[in-house]
Amino acid sequence: MIVAVDGPTASGKGTIAKALAAHFALPHLDTGLLYRAVGRQVALAGGDPDCEADALAACAFPDALLRDPELRSEASGGLASRVSVHPTVRAALFERQRAFATQPGGAVLDGRDIGTVIAPEAEVKLFVTASTRARAERRFAEMRAAARDVTLEDILAQLEARDARDRDRSAAPLEVADDANVLDTTALGREEAIAAAIAVAEEVR
Ligand code: C5P
Repeated sequence: MIVAVDGPTASGKGTIAKALAAHFALPHLDTGLLYRAVGRQVALAGGDPDCEADALAACAFPDALLRDPELRSEASGGLASRVSVHPTVRAALFERQRAFATQPGGAVLDGRDIGTVIAPEAEVKLFVTASTRARAERRFAEMRAAARDVTLEDILAQLEARDARDRDRSAAPLEVADDANVLDTTALGREEAIAAAIAVAEEVR
């Protein structure tokens, strides 16, 4: 069984994907981490994330980079969204994601284009979303907990810029697959969102 979980940043898709993986005892891949690694590798190499050739060269990042805590930062998220607009970068990361999705026994993948491009045949497709303000408030709370010096307005602006870039790019833009189940987590707590996702997955699988 392939479970595709797509949605914008801070929608709760990562939490939901992890919970679904645990519930169905399936391996999980956070595909955003691959794009974050490419973004970080470009920066480490002194390249330009907006230059397609630089970004493509960075796709050969060492696997150890995937364990770098710096990948979780907002700066890495921003770099990821810049390198991810390049079609050749998306193509370079395709096989790795496709192989993970089609491993025997199934898998859970979360990202932006899992249900549309990486695994259109996924049995379970969830599109997790929430209002921009709710997502900004969640990210803000996380950052405050990590003692980062940020304002809600900064986060809101970064989030809107990232959403716009992900939605408006021509290569695999963030869009809801025709057959996806939309789960709006704006008014849901963490456990409620997980329960709702499991209920959908149990019903459609
Ligand atoms: O999900 P996460 O915030 O880690 O993703 C970082 C960025 O990587 C996203 O803003 C998006 O631009 C890009 N991405 C993508 N396709 C995916 C996963 C992430 O384009 N499947």
